[in-house]
Amino acid sequence: MALLAYNPDGVFLPQTGLTPDDLRSIHAQLERARDVVLDDLKLWHEHAATGRPVPKEKDPLDAAFMDLPERLLKEYREDEAGSELGRIIATADRLAKAVDRVVVLGIGGSYMGARALFEARCHPYYNEVGRKDRGDRPRIYFEGNNVDNDSIAALSAMLRQDRDSRWAVVVISKSGGTLETAVALRIFLGLLEELRGAEALGELVVPVTRSQGRLRDLATALKCRDVFDIPEGVGGRFSVLSAVGLLPAAIMGLDVVELLQGAAATNERFRTARPGENPVLDYVGVCHVMEKRCGANIRVLSTWGKRLEAVGLWYDQLLAESLGKNGQGAMPLTVVNTRDLHSRGQQHQEGRRDKLITNLIVDSAAVEKPLVVGRSARDQDKLNAIAETTLPKILEAAYKGTSKAYRDDGRPTAEIRLPAPDEAALGQLFQMLMLATVVEGRLVGINPYGQPGVEAYKRNMNEILGVK
Ligand code: PA5
Repeated sequence: MALLAYNPDGVFLPQTGLTPDDLRSIHAQLERARDVVLDDLKLWHEHAATGRPVPKEKDPLDAAFMDLPERLLKEYREDEAGSELGRIIATADRLAKAVDRVVVLGIGGSYMGARALFEARCHPYYNEVGRKDRGDRPRIYFEGNNVDNDSIAALSAMLRQDRDSRWAVVVISKSGGTLETAVALRIFLGLLEELRGAEALGELVVPVTRSQGRLRDLATALKCRDVFDIPEGVGGRFSVLSAVGLLPAAIMGLDVVELLQGAAATNERFRTARPGENPVLDYVGVCHVMEKRCGANIRVLSTWGKRLEAVGLWYDQLLAESLGKNGQGAMPLTVVNTRDLHSRGQQHQEGRRDKLITNLIVDSAAVEKPLVVGRSARDQDKLNAIAETTLPKILEAAYKGTSKAYRDDGRPTAEIRLPAPDEAALGQLFQMLMLATVVEGRLVGINPYGQPGVEAYKRNMNEILGVK
């Protein structure tokens, strides 16, 4: 498997950046933080096996995401059909045969990962193209991630027009009580029942939730044929490599085994490589030192090309909810270039020196079927000079030009390079960013798990509405 690379070269700048010694000076701290994170996983397993409570200062402890890829892959190798992964793939294939549209309901950690996979890996106009161009898979719609009357009304109206009503619902909610998702489920369930009858619901509704709770109870009442667990100890924003992300991914026809293998490859490097050769630790080191010594408390994830925007938004949530606590936490910001060079670019080039820009880029050599600009008899636009140039080459020139402009003005950048735009690379990236987030939390003394701040609005909203 080609491995993801992390390159901090662009942060080594006089005055505004770091020196290699700055980074070396925290290697021992990074190794200690890694040890704590690996101990957290042991602690979690001890707790799961014995029921012994986790120490108060570690509570909540959602460390079980860490070895989830290896656990799922192992079970799958041992018992393909009976394993969780085997069931996920079988259910996805069943739905793909039975329906032409799947409505995926969920919000936050129960949404962003599936969305990221959809945008990164599926046809850019997936729902518009024919079934063959979708790899013989159903169309996908994301709802329950807001309270938006227009959007739910429009989707409901569209589904009503589907003459054969060949659609299904995947509903994802760990708590089972999140109002946005629960309300959307009620509406789409009502519609499905009206169109297909109550007895069809068990086949056409697939819940992903924890082992107990309102959604679980509803699943039992609906006699759902397939229900998937969100494993204990896996928090919402760390759940992309559980059924939360894997079921939608498998419905889209993605290779979920490769996704997990990519994540397992990151785990192996994380556990064994020393700082300087360890993408997780090096990324944490650069972000941390840039924030503490250079005041770079805005972390721009600068994605190149359209496909990675939702990966960036997934990371925005991961970083913001994990480390934005106790009056601390750098601010994540995803941009998509070249689009945002024409909006935020001015500020990133000449605004406050409070940003670290990390470029997320896919090797241009990996692009299939590159388009050329083309020659024209009407050369008023003067593009014949680059007639043979491909679009990936133009993007690369924009990237190099932007990096040079930042460097010339002493604006620090770093780079995460994906070897290919595929599942193995995405699996590596997801796991790298999740591990980096928990390592940084332990490094600065913030519990990266839990999101007490999000609960406050939910409590108030439910109180205002009189929802119990
Ligand atoms: O990261 C998290 O835990 C949150 O973003 C949750 O995923 C989000 O609030 C949705 O919660 P639930 O899955 O319980 O519906």
